[in-house]
Amino acid sequence: MKVLVIGKGGREHALVWKLAQSPRVDQVFCAPGNAGTGIDGVNVPIDPNDFESLLRFTKKEEIGLTVVGPEDPLCNGIVDAFQAHGLRIFGPAKSAAKLEGSKVFAKKMMRHADVPTAEFKLFDHPEPARAWIESREYPVVVKADGLAAGKGVIVCSTKEEAIEAVNRIMVREEFGQAAGRQIVVEKRLDGEEVSVLALVAGRTIVPLAPAQDHKRAFDGDTGPNTGGMGAYSPAPLATPELLGEIETQGFIPIVHAMKRARTPFRGLLYAGVLVTNQGPRILEYNCRLGDPETQPVLMRLKSDLCELLEAVVDDTLGDFTPEQIVWDPRPAICVVMASGGYPGPYVRGKMIQGLEDAAKVPDVKVFHAGTKLEPGGMVTTDGGRVLGVTAIGDTLADAKARAYEAIAKISFPGGFYRKDIGDKAITKSVQLPPQAPG
Ligand code: GLY
Repeated sequence: MKVLVIGKGGREHALVWKLAQSPRVDQVFCAPGNAGTGIDGVNVPIDPNDFESLLRFTKKEEIGLTVVGPEDPLCNGIVDAFQAHGLRIFGPAKSAAKLEGSKVFAKKMMRHADVPTAEFKLFDHPEPARAWIESREYPVVVKADGLAAGKGVIVCSTKEEAIEAVNRIMVREEFGQAAGRQIVVEKRLDGEEVSVLALVAGRTIVPLAPAQDHKRAFDGDTGPNTGGMGAYSPAPLATPELLGEIETQGFIPIVHAMKRARTPFRGLLYAGVLVTNQGPRILEYNCRLGDPETQPVLMRLKSDLCELLEAVVDDTLGDFTPEQIVWDPRPAICVVMASGGYPGPYVRGKMIQGLEDAAKVPDVKVFHAGTKLEPGGMVTTDGGRVLGVTAIGDTLADAKARAYEAIAKISFPGGFYRKDIGDKAITKSVQLPPQAPG
């Protein structure tokens, strides 16, 4: 079978790499892809939102399965468009992708399904939002309703910051007119975040290995929010008991509610979960695999990814139990190398050196994100997040050491990366000697 992956990030490179290992797959295409997907697969220069060209290509090449990486085409209805032509595609329909595409819809569904989430209020005018913020005694998070390239969620520490966030979204419409028409203002909760990804078809839910992301740009969780600067899997924070609670409280009710609302979810449902002293709270749902969580998760997956994705598409996911999915017990870690300036403005076209040497480090895979193959074979930077250096090891500390060993061999002007990916989990997993009595 031929497979087409849609997207051009690190997540899509990991998908291409893993799908190419499947005995069921002859060839993997990626539209539009990056320099890395062009090595592990074949790039096709089509925009993920150009459905007509994608449909034409899929029919011409007789693609047996299309796998969608990013949220944009899903929220724009790529799955509906492909299914209307009888083509097999992995991902939710437009009506179900709304769980990520509209924060207002997601919160309403969570309230309806009784999912534990932060206390919130919805607004369609800035003035009542400002008044509500003034009357609160706790810090808040302000969220633009629509997709805003990951920038529409503003975590605020003071009332002034929250009011400025309302003005940015609703008055100045910095994230677009449609995205800022409505907002969610919710109580800011304390805790650590974990990403739980599950394959979902109808009422069947098969969770994947949990992961932890690092959203802030700089060490010590400082600096602006990004798409994610690194991730590891498994996440020691997500104990089997906690995962059980997340499934019961965060997955089952929403998946059932979506089905009852005649917008059944079929694809990959990603719950961003905050682990608080009161238990897990669902911060958000995403309708696709996480980036960079996918990179360490797929590095640990030993089962055939293609078979799992096909089971979702063909509605046979019920034949799988989570125990049937085989994981490498060793932890994996992904460290993102980014362009200077990211998540703000940055310059593209910088030459990347050392990729071949990095690839020689054992148990390391360098997933490309914002990269481009130039004529003559040179690889240059072409995005904010450039590479996801991913490693597996006997312990998380070993995996981390391998990833940073590979990173030390790679360079591009202005590039930066966090040096503390995985540290919180590594510190926690260090066994302290038993205390002497007295
Ligand atoms: N790593 C965060 C996300 O994929 O949304």
